[in-house]
Amino acid sequence: MKIAIASDHGGYSLKQELIPYLEGKGHTVLDCGTDSEASVDYIDYAEKGCAQYLAGNADFVILCCGTGVGISIAANKIRGIRCGLCPSVQIAELVKQHNNANAIALGGRTTPPELAKEIVDAYMAAEFMGGRHQLRVDKITSLENRQYSK
Ligand code: RB5
Repeated sequence: MKIAIASDHGGYSLKQELIPYLEGKGHTVLDCGTDSEASVDYIDYAEKGCAQYLAGNADFVILCCGTGVGISIAANKIRGIRCGLCPSVQIAELVKQHNNANAIALGGRTTPPELAKEIVDAYMAAEFMGGRHQLRVDKITSLENRQYSK
């Protein structure tokens, strides 16, 4: 698969572990930064990773920050992105099966690297179930196109 990966400083170390792991399994990994432990804003890296997916350059996106929370919130503000925060293998399977997530978020300070690798593998092995879940994903898409004043 083609995978875009991006992190802030809090997810940098995990990103650096995941890249050779995924390449070793034959995947193509597009590293969208950051490139060091220097402090950066996770919002910018959510955008860089997701932009590669939306441009058709990746099959899905892995986003890492300290907890995975901030970078998933930012990613979910981008039209067309459904990012699931994945602290467990079970959730990784479900975000694909039910939500057809095209991005997953991991916490570099909260999820040990070996578990993170299992989580990514579980997400990639899972398949979207469609049916009633497709109707709900379609509703999410229509929600993206509505405007609220508050
Ligand atoms: C950065 O210190 C930290 O706030 C960030 O990586 C993330 O955990 C935010 O949700």
